[in-house]
Amino acid sequence: MRAAGIPTAEFGVFRDPGEAKCFVRARGGAWAVKADGLAAGKGVVLCPDPAHAEAAIAEVMERRAFGPAGEVCVVEEFLEGEEASLLAFVDGERAFLLPAAQDHKAVGEGDTGPNTGGMGAYSPAPVLTPALEETAMETVILPAVRAMAERGRRYQGILYAGLMVQGEDLKALEFNCRFGDPECQPLLMRMEEDLLPYLMGCATGNLGARPPRFDGNAAVCVVMAAGGYPGAYRKGDRIHGLDEAAAIEGVKVFHAGTALDKDGHPVTAGGRVLGVAARGEIIKQAIGRAYAACGRIHWEGAYYRLDIGAKALRRTGGRM
Ligand SMILES: Nc1ncnc2c1ncn2[C@@H]1O[C@H](COP(=O)(O)OP(=O)(O)O)[C@@H](O)[C@H]1O
Ligand SMILES: [Mg+2]
Repeated sequence: MRAAGIPTAEFGVFRDPGEAKCFVRARGGAWAVKADGLAAGKGVVLCPDPAHAEAAIAEVMERRAFGPAGEVCVVEEFLEGEEASLLAFVDGERAFLLPAAQDHKAVGEGDTGPNTGGMGAYSPAPVLTPALEETAMETVILPAVRAMAERGRRYQGILYAGLMVQGEDLKALEFNCRFGDPECQPLLMRMEEDLLPYLMGCATGNLGARPPRFDGNAAVCVVMAAGGYPGAYRKGDRIHGLDEAAAIEGVKVFHAGTALDKDGHPVTAGGRVLGVAARGEIIKQAIGRAYAACGRIHWEGAYYRLDIGAKALRRTGGRM
């Protein structure tokens, strides 16, 4: 990002824990300490002050809490603001944006507790105004696509930019080379045409002339998880009410961590069990439908956040 001029947090990259600790001590303030390798989505520790950051660095680099992922550590200035996800189809040169979405990473209401793979998402994300979306395209998505092409690594596929928005200011937190789960569910529920030609366009390096059409409505996905997730959780509990939930207008229930037991009955088989998604004319209606559907689904210890989409409602006064 630095090489491509993409706005991002101040950061340092360290192989030596002592140097990383000096870096945060000398600068003060709050930090995000990131294990550089793969850590099952749990490798980022948010630290309110240098003392916590030093402890996190020790945890990641010295005690190797995330194994070899902690050999290299990225220490980033903590950014205030509200997050949004902006995805694009990319064919190596050009990019077609999908509408903005917002994920809910933390397990608990009000964004509290440990981070998860994602507890719910909605689209549109009013925090990303049309002007900011344009800024994100010009300062984040396209520079990344160009920088990769210039290095002889043309990127073809879905490019996912994780953004931090504060007022008119926007910074990139990360890129993923895939759709996000659960952002994918509300986004594709809003897509008004076939996905396949766009994926083919990415794969063959020719996206064609026209960006995909998305409806002007809203969609929400509430993740129903097994009790205890993201910590230890049970598997094999029978899931009831799937048909009753799917019967609600605009609702579609996506299976994630599920399996069939020996009698052919759906049971839980993972931490995030279902993505209960719903369309609506406005976010408020989509939220109402998604939660009505969640209310019809039961298993022993099922858990879901009750505030998915609450930020969008606050921002729009329920009018969008
Ligand atoms: N610099 C930062 N400032 C504030 N919060 C951050 C920062 N970096 C990451 N986060 C928070 O931590 C979460 C996970 O970080 P991210 O870089 O997206 O890693 P992952 O690969 O685990 O998704 C983000 O969604 C965001 O909530
Ligand atoms: Mg992330």
